[in-house]
This record gives sequence, C-alpha cells and structure tokens, in this order.
Amino acid sequence: MRAILGWLVGAIHVMDDVIPMRLVAVICLLALAASRPSPSFATGAELYARYCLLCHGAHLEGYAADNTPSLVSPTFRATASDAFLRAAIERGRARTAMAGYGRAVGGPLGPADVVALVAYIRGGTTAPAPLARKPSTGSAATGREVYVANCQSCHGTAEQRATAVHLANAMFLATASDAYLRAAIVRGRPGTPMQGWGEVLSAREIEDVIAYVRSLARAVPPAPAPPAGVTADGQMRTIENVPVVVNPTGEQATFTLREDRYVSVADVAKAYDEKRRLVLIDARTPSDYLRMHITGAISIPYFNMHNLDNVPNDGTWVIAYCACPHHVSGVVMEELRKRGYPHTAVLDEGVFLWQQQGHPVVAAEGQLPIPAPPPNGAPVAMSNTVDDSLDPPPR
Ligand code: HEC
Ligand code: HEC
Repeated sequence: MRAILGWLVGAIHVMDDVIPMRLVAVICLLALAASRPSPSFATGAELYARYCLLCHGAHLEGYAADNTPSLVSPTFRATASDAFLRAAIERGRARTAMAGYGRAVGGPLGPADVVALVAYIRGGTTAPAPLARKPSTGSAATGREVYVANCQSCHGTAEQRATAVHLANAMFLATASDAYLRAAIVRGRPGTPMQGWGEVLSAREIEDVIAYVRSLARAVPPAPAPPAGVTADGQMRTIENVPVVVNPTGEQATFTLREDRYVSVADVAKAYDEKRRLVLIDARTPSDYLRMHITGAISIPYFNMHNLDNVPNDGTWVIAYCACPHHVSGVVMEELRKRGYPHTAVLDEGVFLWQQQGHPVVAAEGQLPIPAPPPNGAPVAMSNTVDDSLDPPPR
C-alpha cells in the first residue's frame, strides 16, 4: 500500500502536466479507502481520540494520565476477551478514574460504539482464544502475606488503589477469571511497571496470591439511577434548572494557584466553608457524577462542553475537578481560559481526596463507603506529578 502511495506521490511531480492534479488526488483517496480496515475500526479510532486518548495515550500505551494502564501490552491483548473489554468500557471501574462510558450507566456510548472501540483496541487482530477455566488451588490467608510483601505497594489495599490497577475493584474481579489473573501475574505486562512473577514466586505462592485477590471480590455496586438525566451524547439534561453558582450571594473567593493552574483541596474547602461565591465543575463522565460529586458542582464532561455557555463570566472563580486528577479537568479549564474566563483552576488532588477528607458530597445510594487513605504512604488517590501539558482532545 505504502509503495503504491509513494509511487503516486513521486508520479505527481513527473506527471504534473500530463494528468490533472484532481485525478491524482481522487486516486490517492481511493487507494487510502481501500487500505483502511473495517468502518467499525475507523469509528473506534475517532471515539478513542475523543473519549480515551487523554488518559490511555495516543497509541493506547497508557500512562498519559499517570497510572492509567496500557491497552496494548502483549499479555493483556493475549488474555483480555471482548467481554472483558466491553465490561470495562461500559461499566467502568467505580472509584477509579475509569468511568462507565455505557449509556445504561449515564455515559455517552451506545453498544455499537463500544464494539467499535473494542475493534480499535484490538488493532485489527481477532479476540484471543478463551482461557481454560482453572480456579486457584491456593490459600487466601497465605496469599495475603505474599500480596502485602510483593504487590500492595503498587496495587493498594482492599479499599484503595495505589499506583496500579485496583485488583480489589468489584467490577474488575467480576470479569477477571483466576486464569486471567494467573497469566498476568506469571508473565507480567511487558513494557509497563508490572514484571513477570513466574521466576520470582513459587507456583504455590502464585496460587495463594490469586486466592487472596479473589477473596477481595464484592458484589458489584448497582449502577446509579437515573441515567434518564443524561442525554445520548453524555450531557446532564437538567443543567438549565440547577443553580450553577455555589453560594450565589457570597463574597468572591480569592485563591493563589500553584503553577498558575492548580488550587488545593484545602483552599477550596476553606472558601466553600466560608460560603464564598464559586463555580465547581465536575469534568468527568456523567456516570461518575451520578455516583458521587461535590455538593453544588455541575456536570460538564470534558468531551461535551456546550453547557459552559451557562457559566457566568463575571470574575467568579471556576474550579474544574476530576479523579485522574488533572487531565479531564485540565481540558475544561483550558476551554474556560480560551473563552476568556479570568479566574479558573483545577482542583489539585482531585475529587477523591475531597471525599476522603469529609467535605460535602452527594453520593448515589448503594455506593461503596468512602475510600480509605492510600497504603504505605503511596501517592494520594491518583496524584499526578508527571507531565500535565495536554492538548484538548479533538471534538
Ligand atoms: C480519566 C482517565 C481515563 C479515561 C478518559 C479512560 N480511561 Fe480507561 N482506565 C483508566 C484507569 C485509571 C484504569 C484502571 C482503573 C483501575 O485502577 O482499576 C482504566 C482501565 C481501563 C480498561 C481496563 C484495563 C485493564 O488492564 O484492566 C479498559 C479496557 C479501558 N480503561 C478502556 C478505556 C476506553 C475505551 C476509554 C474511552 C472510552 C477509556 N478507558 C477512558 C483511566 C481512563
Ligand atoms: C512495581 C509495581 C507493581 C508491583 C510490585 C506489582 N504490580 Fe501488578 N501491575 C502493575 C501495573 C502498573 C499493572 C498494569 C500494567 C499495564 O499497564 O497493563 C499491573 C497489572 C497487574 C495485573 C493485571 C491487571 C489487569 O487489569 O489486567 C495483575 C493481575 C497484577 N498486576 C497482579 C500483581 C500481583 C499479584 C503482584 C504481586 C505478586 C503484582 N501485580 C505486583 C504494577 C505492579
């Protein structure tokens, strides 16, 4: 294919006078169209760029928002079934930065969109053969020791993630079989911080640690109602009827920003308690907003910012927040600055620290308890000390 295109480009110079340029252009386009994988793949690429790229990276390599896993490590691709991918995308992983994107839980994606995304993640390869069912033969009690000694520093405790995928997450464990866990543990995830443990731990220890991880499984919390409040393109329907400003009659807040971008949870909580006038924007997917949000915050997701039209541009501080904790809120803040809002910032440590510290939130019924502080002095929630510069995703 490349050879043909290269030939055409070369030929343009030679044939400028012979063949009209327009014809060459048409031939090029036809050749490109013929080389393109299925339409579902192309749709998946567009959806990925709009919704996923800013965390999972331009090449699905992960770690664009730090701590976001790779979707292309060879061992992940070789073991993650289509059903596993679909569940992760549609339902998300509650209480992590991974929102539910399915329409049923208040996300923007319909079933065909999710199929297209799975095709894109697969990169044109077919789904792997299903793993043979092979439950762990180990002991959870012994496995706990193996886990605390070798895994907890990255994967966190039963209640809280540290820097890597939260293995205790109810939604993860509902779709990851023992065979899936075993394959990941033995061979690791090449190209990521997850080493293979097959040479380090004994087969017995590996069985034990699988049994321990399995023992952490809990019922998947019900999807918060009512997704009826969310439009098909993932906006809250009701924004016109909700107050946009917190403490509309209060005095203006004053903040000093870190790096001209970030305001701490402590500073915002102080202004909030002093009943200062503020706008708080939850920049996450509405499914996350429906699960839990700061009391008084409005939902304006990073991928659909029409509702910014309702935010007053009168000098009031506008604080965007998310869970990752800078990326999707950064997109909303950049858009506000582009529109000329003078006082904008990102909540530095994100919404989970706000919740952990007991500041007011609205949580849907049946949600899991407040996340515990992170283990072993690991970074708070998903604190992001890596590169925060970011181009807004294509719309
Ligand atoms: C705000 C950042 C963010 C965005 C945006 C995001 N993800 Fe994720 N995603 C994560 C994080 C963090 C995890 C791991 C969650 C955990 O801690 O268990 C994850 C996990 C996943 C997983 C499971 C991977 C595994 O190893 O178990 C898949 C699949 C996935 N995301 C796909 C997507 C797709 C597709 C989109 C776009 C529709 C998307 N994500 C958007 C942050 C994000
Ligand atoms: C140095 C940090 C670190 C340590 C220690 C570590 N892991 Fe991991 N682990 C990771 C990261 C990071 C990932 C996600 C890799 C990626 O991007 O795909 C991961 C992925 C996994 C996965 C696959 C999750 C998924 O969504 O597919 C399993 C299972 C796992 N680790 C189990 C363990 C166990 C059990 C131990 C201890 C024996 C352990 N890990 C130790 C960092 C670590």
